[in-house]
Amino acid sequence: MAAINAVTDLSNVGKVSVITLNSPPVNALSADVRDGLAAAFKQAGADASTNAIVLICAGRTFIAGADISEFGKAPRGASLFEVQTSIENSPKPVIGAIHGTALGGGLEVALCCHYRVAVPSAKCGLPEVHLGLLPGAGGTQRLPRIVGPEKALEMVTSGSHMGAKQCLAMGLVDELAEEGKLREAAIAFAEKVVAEKRPLRKVRDSNEKVEALRGKPEVFAAFRKANARKFRGFMAPESNIKCIEAAVNLPFDEGLKEERRLFTELMSGPQSAAQRYTFFAEREVWKIPDVPADTPQIPVNTVGIIGAGTMGGGIAMNFVNVGIPVIIVETTQEALDRGMKVVRGNYERSAKNGRFTMEQVEQRMALIKPTTKLEDIAQVDLVIEAVFERMEVKKEIFTKLDAIMKPGAILGTNTSALNIDEIASVTKRPHDVIGLHFFSPANVMRLLEVVRADHTSKPVIATSMAIAKKIGKIAALVGVCPGFVGNRILAARRRAAEQLLMSGTMPWDIDRVLYDFGFPMGVYAMSDLAGLDLGWVKAESKGLTIRDRLCELDRRGQKTGKGWYDYDENRNPTPSPVTEGIIKEFITKAGNTPRQAPDDEILERCLLPMINEGAKILAERKAIRASDIDIIYQAGYGFPAYRGGPMFYADQMGLDKVVARMKHYAPQWGADFEPAALLAELAASGKRFQDWRAA
Ligand code: 3HC
Repeated sequence: MAAINAVTDLSNVGKVSVITLNSPPVNALSADVRDGLAAAFKQAGADASTNAIVLICAGRTFIAGADISEFGKAPRGASLFEVQTSIENSPKPVIGAIHGTALGGGLEVALCCHYRVAVPSAKCGLPEVHLGLLPGAGGTQRLPRIVGPEKALEMVTSGSHMGAKQCLAMGLVDELAEEGKLREAAIAFAEKVVAEKRPLRKVRDSNEKVEALRGKPEVFAAFRKANARKFRGFMAPESNIKCIEAAVNLPFDEGLKEERRLFTELMSGPQSAAQRYTFFAEREVWKIPDVPADTPQIPVNTVGIIGAGTMGGGIAMNFVNVGIPVIIVETTQEALDRGMKVVRGNYERSAKNGRFTMEQVEQRMALIKPTTKLEDIAQVDLVIEAVFERMEVKKEIFTKLDAIMKPGAILGTNTSALNIDEIASVTKRPHDVIGLHFFSPANVMRLLEVVRADHTSKPVIATSMAIAKKIGKIAALVGVCPGFVGNRILAARRRAAEQLLMSGTMPWDIDRVLYDFGFPMGVYAMSDLAGLDLGWVKAESKGLTIRDRLCELDRRGQKTGKGWYDYDENRNPTPSPVTEGIIKEFITKAGNTPRQAPDDEILERCLLPMINEGAKILAERKAIRASDIDIIYQAGYGFPAYRGGPMFYADQMGLDKVVARMKHYAPQWGADFEPAALLAELAASGKRFQDWRAA
């Protein structure tokens, strides 16, 4: 084997040149890779002793795309276009040999090969849309020429990965190779192509499928309409659609130009910057500076859950979904039966929607053992307490757990706000205690706040992060403080919204601005969904707050058909004159002069306190890095992905401007608008949150 450069080898097997890329971890198309490929194809093309070329990758995967870390930097080395042209115009047939994932630019390289062979476990996809981009190396022009424009539309706007068998059926792959024997199979395939004198097939020349849709704009209109809700606010899906339209309506080279134009537009825009940031943030969130990857972990083969309410049941589903048996404990048989019924109902609904079979429902239900005896969980590896949010109740449970649990078991609490150090203090093993804050509905929401208390041990943290990954969550490690990270920041937004309300801006105006910003719903729509009576006690209510008054009128949210809003039978909200009347009463009572804040002010006054609270959280070391806060906000609170998260949003706005706007509001609106020390310091030194690391 001859080295072309540090990441590319070229060897001959009989009459076949084999180009092998080896650029861990994912063979991304860095400058070195592109240089290596360009040189290798030139050399292989000129080698008179071979008559075909195989392109294969070493390591865990075929090329997983362009090197995202190079985006935005000065271009270096051979361009991807040059590499692709040398493959497509090769005088010898080129066979792409795919294992792992051929994604983005990786699939676009494979699409320039004349033929493709893959192992059954391989996957292909164009996931650029998740980075706020579109396939910018001909993918939008070549893919529809193979799979047809309709399928291509779906693939580029969803970014989904297609299994090799499906790729074979769609014509994206020509032959499946036996698992583990890709190299031999690809060489044999190359020999067959030569022996059978098959043509140098260029995808770009195959126009039949795209031409079939020419003059049918209604197909695209229908696709846009059907997906409008899903694509709301995002720029990339629309640009992807436009590219597929270009593939249908324009000659190949013109289509390529349109693809390039739209790609460049997205690449230089703020949305892609936010989504690329998110890509790396989602990977960094797992890294804990003082808990290295080789920290020993505690095997978790069984889980106990205390409480079969909505939370407990949802948490249980996460574990049984990945085959980990759960014992679920309740105080009464009745509560237990009710909880199990809800879990079953959830599974049956999924089965009805075709997500799995009834047999799988039964398999999952069989993995949950309900009991009313706490002692039954004594031998589990991990227990998660998910009962009432009352300190005395939690302390009582942890005292009992301390007495019965086997040594070394992890003692988790799902508290969303209580002090975990205080909970841990009733045990003789505070190092085993950790917060595992799931979000409701726990079987659906992606976020898990893993809360590290003062004495939590590193193996307990490492195990909790690993188990979160196993059950498909995205976990962020946070510290103990009221509301932890997510709810603490949410409380800041809530205070800001209350101030707006009490100065004459109506709930629906606040919600509309937040919705238009990209949140799935605003503060008050969310309150109506959750129920206004969370923590409200009828007997103690004295009409002292707007919420008290609404609850007293049985306006307790969506479940009673009215709350902040009025709801029709389809749960469509309309502004409520009753709510408005009550708010105005409170404003008058407080002696405030009502003033409707303009939209840009509403937005600033909601977002700035969130950013400020985030800065305080970082300074107090309750989150490891700013991007972890952003991940929490995207995965748990619906912060629009195309805006990155509150901290990234602040960085993009410029911290000096953030501080200036806060100072503008602080005299009237108080402490939440006084720039936190860290924010002021970063702004003064021209830095960004994303560059800040704890000393
Ligand atoms: N560029 C740079 N780094 C990348 C990368 C890429 N395309 N893909 C993955 N990495 C890095 C990750 O950041 C991570 O680094 P770390 O170990 O330092 O944190 C490492 O590779 C391993 O990645 P994962 O942790 O994600 O590994 P998994 O095995 O879980 O997943 C994968 C592998 C499915 C390939 C996943 O990494 C992935 O989806 N990658 C991105 C694929 C993608 O978006 N491709 C399109 C790129 S844009 C493009 O091609 C534009 C073109 O059209 C012009």
